[in-house]
Amino acid sequence: MTTATRKILVTNALPYANGPIHIGHMLGYIQADIWVRFQKMRGHECHYMCADDAHGTPIMLKAQQLGVEPEQMIAEMNQAHQADFADFHVAFDHYYSTHSPENRELAELIYTRLRDAGHIKTKTISQLYDPDKEMFLPDRFVKGDCPKCGAADQYGDNCDVCGATYAPTELKNPTSAVSGSTPELRESEHYFFDLPAFEDMLKAWTRSGSLQEEMANKLNEWFDAGLQRWDISRDAPYFGFEIPDAPGKYFYVWLDAPIGYMSSFKNYCTVTGNADFDSYWQPGSDAEVYHFIGKDIIYFHSLFWPAMLKGADFRQPTNVWAHGFITVNGTKMSKSKGTFIMARTYLDHLDPDYLRYYFAAKLTARIDDLDLNLSDFAQRVNSDLVGKVVNIASRCAGFIQKKFDGKLKSELQETDLLDEFQAAANTIAEAYEKREFSRAMRDIMALADKANFYIAEEEPWQLIKDPAKAERVHEICSIGINLFRLLMIYLTPVVPDLAQRVQQFLNEDFSWDSHRQLLKGHAIEPFKALLQRIDMDNVNNMIDASKAANTASAASDNGELSKDPIAAEISFDDFAKIDLRVARIANAEHVEGADKLLKLTLDLGGETRQVFAGIKSAYDPATLVGQHTVMVANLAPRKMRFGMSEGMVLAAGPGGEELFILNPHEGAKPGMRVK
Ligand code: MSP
Ligand code: ZN
Repeated sequence: MTTATRKILVTNALPYANGPIHIGHMLGYIQADIWVRFQKMRGHECHYMCADDAHGTPIMLKAQQLGVEPEQMIAEMNQAHQADFADFHVAFDHYYSTHSPENRELAELIYTRLRDAGHIKTKTISQLYDPDKEMFLPDRFVKGDCPKCGAADQYGDNCDVCGATYAPTELKNPTSAVSGSTPELRESEHYFFDLPAFEDMLKAWTRSGSLQEEMANKLNEWFDAGLQRWDISRDAPYFGFEIPDAPGKYFYVWLDAPIGYMSSFKNYCTVTGNADFDSYWQPGSDAEVYHFIGKDIIYFHSLFWPAMLKGADFRQPTNVWAHGFITVNGTKMSKSKGTFIMARTYLDHLDPDYLRYYFAAKLTARIDDLDLNLSDFAQRVNSDLVGKVVNIASRCAGFIQKKFDGKLKSELQETDLLDEFQAAANTIAEAYEKREFSRAMRDIMALADKANFYIAEEEPWQLIKDPAKAERVHEICSIGINLFRLLMIYLTPVVPDLAQRVQQFLNEDFSWDSHRQLLKGHAIEPFKALLQRIDMDNVNNMIDASKAANTASAASDNGELSKDPIAAEISFDDFAKIDLRVARIANAEHVEGADKLLKLTLDLGGETRQVFAGIKSAYDPATLVGQHTVMVANLAPRKMRFGMSEGMVLAAGPGGEELFILNPHEGAKPGMRVK
């Protein structure tokens, strides 16, 4: 029997608001989503919270670079992130932002409680300061020569060449990655959270026995190395929340980021009334709280966060569950190989249930990295989901439809296999509960093999030829559909979209307990293809699209915010090859049959060129005649449907009416070189 209803709050690490979601990120969101869907199917009260992590220096600088206010950038990014998650069927109950009134309030509350309990200390420290940008530089924004091996162009915290770690102040010949200027040392007072005061509490938490083994080991290493006070303040300019009693000082992004879990939940409670905030967060709460995170952020979640909560008189998480990192084809995701795949690029080419299944098939409760091998991915999905599971239905449904009026048999005689499938629910549920998804998938596919074996043995397609055996065919196919149904109930948390189509086909809504009954005398819908096989062409197209997107944005790393990412860097020699000239528009006219083009005659001061330009949506040709503009004069002539085009004029803007040809200042003469 299902146990009493549990109250569960689940979070996944909050993605930074300065870049798009990629398939590496998706691992954690999908892992937690599967777990949450499983809990909900079992009838538990489970709330899945997330938000964008919207604060910090990188986000502030990125907004500056894009020339927008950070508020606008994070709002756009929030929309893009939510769309990506929704399209991957990651069903958050709430998605919020750390830049919210609730988060400010809770961050201030937690800080004040910590301060009043004596857990906040101040100390003056010296740090590298960018005199041009008038800001202190985070480690990642200082570059220089490694103090150990001398390698050039290393970041302020560690050396990629020799692996040394050091303080940014130790770098030789440091430069600011923000402005290129030479940073100087400056002093400023910082606020620290007294982590060492929580050592006993944290050790007890570690020994509670339910932590992942690797997590407990990591924590013990950190205890051995000695806990340090944690710097929680940053000086202006900073995009974040100002510290209440310290004007000009801001909470470091990692202080208010995990508080975002609480504030997202708080806003959700207020807006929906679905849960009571306090009953989840008061000390001694009987609710369960789980944080799913990647292995790179264990320190924040297993030391700072429980200690902060303790010090501010809130309950601590029931557990923090870390997962490993995604590699693609055996190596780190790579822009040049096209394996740095954005969630959106994946969605443009492939069904999200494929990736959800593949992740599930490889996920365990451990912190191991997980390789997305793309040919294994296609093969695994095709052979398991399409070849084993969906195949059962497609072998049986046609007979039910054509010979038995679309109705399953009302009494089933041979229930051995069905009993076995129903009995498997418990071990599969246990595997889900323990986040041993790969074990659950293995068990489900082993059952699928048995179902296929059964149908292959019985050969209903032979029996149907003999009218006396019709009843038998009805029995076999009804059993087959029931076996398929049980497997799909078990797979629902993993492949929700496929499960949705199956529920329509079966005229039924699944819950976990649905496995206790069989479908007998039940009308099903005509069978339609439930899942396409993965075509390697689609996978390859996705890789090509990722390559193209990454070269286009390589220099700027603009992600999705800018429609026209800055192109890849070129050398001066490349630039010098382009012959740009001032041209006088001697004539401009419409072109018969062309929707976008105008035909321009360009005077280069002694030479004229005919150019077809796609600017019809923005200009009436009559207004162009006599104006000066800039053209690429050495572009290879191109034969177009309407004639030869001998160059190109330069225009700016996204298109449509917003298109502006470049106009040199007065005095520029036709034929002059532009450089
Ligand atoms: N903003 C912080 C988390 C704050 S939580 C209070 C952050 N953001 S992130 O965008 O960098 O990462 C979001 C999640 O994605 C993290 O759990 C991180 O570990 C995970 N991953 C990022 N790249 C990943 C892979 N390549 N593979 C698996 N998970 C990865 O960290
Ligand atoms: Zn080095």
